[in-house]
Amino acid sequence: MEIRSLGVVGGGQMGNGIAHVAAGAGCSVILVDVDDSLLARARGTIQKNLEREVAKGKRTAEERDAALSRIALTTRIEELASADAVIEAIVENEGVKKELFGRLDGVCRPEAILASNTSSISITRLAAATGRPEKFIGMHFMNPVPVMALVEVIRGLATSDETAAAVDALARRMGKTPIVCNDYPGFVSNRVLMPMLNEAIEALREGVATKEAIDGIMRLGMNHPMGPLTLADFIGLDTCLAILRVLHEGFGDPKYRPSPLLVRMVDAGWLGKKTGRGFYEYPA
Ligand code: CAA
Ligand code: NAD
Repeated sequence: MEIRSLGVVGGGQMGNGIAHVAAGAGCSVILVDVDDSLLARARGTIQKNLEREVAKGKRTAEERDAALSRIALTTRIEELASADAVIEAIVENEGVKKELFGRLDGVCRPEAILASNTSSISITRLAAATGRPEKFIGMHFMNPVPVMALVEVIRGLATSDETAAAVDALARRMGKTPIVCNDYPGFVSNRVLMPMLNEAIEALREGVATKEAIDGIMRLGMNHPMGPLTLADFIGLDTCLAILRVLHEGFGDPKYRPSPLLVRMVDAGWLGKKTGRGFYEYPA
């Protein structure tokens, strides 16, 4: 099945990027969030990022306008009834995602594929919240979506070859490189990335070095584009903590224990760039 009309649920940093790139690749997109102000913010971000591509000569002004006109915004998931596929990009919480997928299963036509952009949660368990586990898959985009080449594709226990082929084709049409892995906590990307970020936070907590020094050592010494503390702020500290908890619980191994400093920062509402304060400050 070729995916031409796409629903995206969650218009935060990942969802608006997915909507942007899918519309730029010719899909008609319906973007869903919980209220109109969040939808307006998502649209503003998409517009700004498309503008950036025009300024860089990657897209013409006509292509920008055509991409924008292919994105409809709504707070009603019922409007996804005729979509070929839906990609979920809401908060990294298993209960909240399962509740949404149960509702989507009732709304979407039986042929539609349901995909999750989860960073770590079991695709098999999310699929079991629907009556179509063979049409369920993980489609894990990287942040910032318009820039990053990878889509980590995660097959659940019941995912069919047909579903995997359809999302592989969609990812390629979106200009991404899909790479498949199996369903283990954190998949490959976050099983490897998050322990590094957590260790950097522990190094800060223990006073091994300043935050600037920790980031500088990893940027200049390892050629990482961002230091680990800057990257954690960029991802969102709530999301990092949620992923570490999935790894910790899923493997039962203390090496994944979230740093107490990370826990305290999330308790304080210092979630990184999106709230203006994390390890660094981000004036509005
Ligand atoms: N949206 C769209 N485009 C953006 C962007 C954004 N938010 N931020 C930057 N860009 C574009 C710029 O327009 C620029 O495009 P060109 O190459 O065409 O010029 C390009 O990205 C580079 O931008 P800049 O020169 O302004 O800035 P930079 O060189 O500092 O790069 C960056 C910015 C691409 C974000 C880079 O710092 C980077 O790669 N950081 C690491 C990102 C990373 O590791 N992402 C994975 C996070 S983990 C994850 O996503 C999975 C998970 O589950 C948590
Ligand atoms: P975010 O907080 O920026 O955005 C989440 C959006 O979902 C918000 O706009 C929120 O209003 C909306 N939302 C919440 N519940 C909803 C519901 N029931 N219906 C409709 N909308 C709802 O989060 P994000 O960083 O975009 O992360 C979203 C997902 O993508 C998470 O599962 C996260 O783990 C994953 N992810 C994040 C990153 C990253 O770097 N931040 C990278 C890859 C994957």
